[in-house]
Amino acid sequence: MHRTHTCGELRISDVDSEVTLSGWVQTIRKFGSITFADLRDRYGITQLLFNEQLNNRLDAQPLGREFVLKITGKVLERSNKNNKIPTGDIEIEVADFTILNAAATPPFTIEEDTDGGDELRMRYRYLDLRRPTLRRNMELRYKVSRSVRNYMDAQGFWDIETPFLIRSTPEGARDFVVPSRMNEGQFYALPQSPQTFKQLLMISGYDRYYQIVKCFRDEDLRADRQPEFTQVDCEMSFVEQEDVIQTFEGLFKHVFKDVKNVEINEAFPRMTWEDAMWHYGNDKPDIRFEMKIQNLKTTFRNTHGDNNTFNIPSGFPVFDNAGTVLAISVPGGSEYTRKQLDEITAWVKRPQIGMNGVVYIKCNADGTFKSSVDKFYDAAQLSEMAAFCGATPGDLILILAGEESLTRKAICELRLEMGNRLGLRNPEDYKPLWVTDFPLFEYDDDNGRWVAKHHPFTAPKPEHIDWMNEPEKYGDIKANAYDIILNGTEIGGGSIRIHQRELQEKMFAALGMSKEEAQEQFGFLMGAFEYGAPPHGGIAFGFDRLCALLGGQEGIRDFIAFPKNNAGRDVMLDAPSEIDNKQMDELGLSRKGTSEK
Ligand code: AMO
Repeated sequence: MHRTHTCGELRISDVDSEVTLSGWVQTIRKFGSITFADLRDRYGITQLLFNEQLNNRLDAQPLGREFVLKITGKVLERSNKNNKIPTGDIEIEVADFTILNAAATPPFTIEEDTDGGDELRMRYRYLDLRRPTLRRNMELRYKVSRSVRNYMDAQGFWDIETPFLIRSTPEGARDFVVPSRMNEGQFYALPQSPQTFKQLLMISGYDRYYQIVKCFRDEDLRADRQPEFTQVDCEMSFVEQEDVIQTFEGLFKHVFKDVKNVEINEAFPRMTWEDAMWHYGNDKPDIRFEMKIQNLKTTFRNTHGDNNTFNIPSGFPVFDNAGTVLAISVPGGSEYTRKQLDEITAWVKRPQIGMNGVVYIKCNADGTFKSSVDKFYDAAQLSEMAAFCGATPGDLILILAGEESLTRKAICELRLEMGNRLGLRNPEDYKPLWVTDFPLFEYDDDNGRWVAKHHPFTAPKPEHIDWMNEPEKYGDIKANAYDIILNGTEIGGGSIRIHQRELQEKMFAALGMSKEEAQEQFGFLMGAFEYGAPPHGGIAFGFDRLCALLGGQEGIRDFIAFPKNNAGRDVMLDAPSEIDNKQMDELGLSRKGTSEK
């Protein structure tokens, strides 16, 4: 028998029992004839006591870090208790031990999380996973998955698998492709999501589907993006937007309670896409803090929210010439020093932000103003501007000016940065919300055409369906689409779908596809729509993102057991890698620069 207990299990009530434990040697400390070692497994750490007087074989078989060890011995009460670990009241006086496997010296210590660089940690991921932080993250991930499954099960959803080898389509991100040996010269694609399959399952009558499923996207990586990631993918039939939102708001509340013991009783706030853009500068607002964007001047159209702008007096050429002038009012910022203001200026000038500079107005506690545009505006004008921005004495107004989309993006980032600097983005403060009423299309300036904001299966709002015949109205069509945002991260998105062939054809036409192209690529779906497609809709959550946020982080990498690095490589496997000529041949492939087969 390898063990009677785990290394996290024994307590003071077990004193005097004879036990067998197996695990990894974490540390070894020798004091004269006595040696202490910490034995670790997934469950915890137990202190071992080797007494040479009782057991002198340690000299003959020295232990090392990460050796796999089996011991038997007696549980003793510790004289020197450690209240930091659950087994801290006891230790095991080792009577006998077996080294089950020796270990090479690990490239970093397991007990010290900061030891070892990123690359090393990734290469020895199986060792990194032994560490407490990653072990906790993996446990959290498992618990979130279990909690999701329990909720979905209770709501009558069926878990149905969908294929990984599918057909490449042009919409969305780039596909990963897989060459087919049996169909030389042809390729499968790995799914970016099971979108069309879940819609087909609705047509099959399986009206509540979900899956915790891998998705593959060949896109530029960021902290919250991996080339293969996991979605909780869901679809329902005979539903409207409100049904989907209610069902999955319920899922969130369930998971928060179950996993974090956080009770959210109120309904999640909702915000239209236009209001999110207007007040927060992007479609995934972090509403843990206010500091809303003030639209002094803008070309952005807010059709149903607050669209009040300020009448900026002319005289300052930067504002006069800019299409957009946006501000935030930073509480307590009037005390900022020259150096702090210079830092903010340098921050907005970084290439990622791309602004030429920032204008500030200090609203001093005594009611006076000090600004970088004192030359251009008098105190009364500054005071009006401050009033428009909702600034009060003690605040610092920061203003960016330039082209609309660049400036809105920049002020959004600046707001988040100031939120960080002021400590307003506590990861334990969970503020979910729904963003609704997304545009159906967005214009792709680079390619001069309309593209789907979500995906081409998203239905327009019923009252805008007629506008599908009027290209000049495309920009105004709103979709029955919704995203769920948590603390400034998009964790899920979905929509009510098109379920009629005619409308789907119009959609593809609007996206610039010919009838033939649409038929070739999506004929299977449009054909299925002709055999009794029910109205349906759904949503998919970024499972890795959800886990990371529940674990208090924005980066998803440490919530995935074996992730890729920022260059999309698995440094442990050293993948991707070349394949040999024989394999290339079988697949009918040749390398660029070599002769065609
Ligand atoms: P969408 O493309 O919005 O929707 O994806 C849903 C959610 O998946 C997460 N996500 C990612 N997570 C990690 N790495 C990535 N590269 C990555 N890309 C996306 C995000 C996102 O909100 N089929 C639709 C859903 C639907 O309409 O039902 C879809 O895939 O959290």
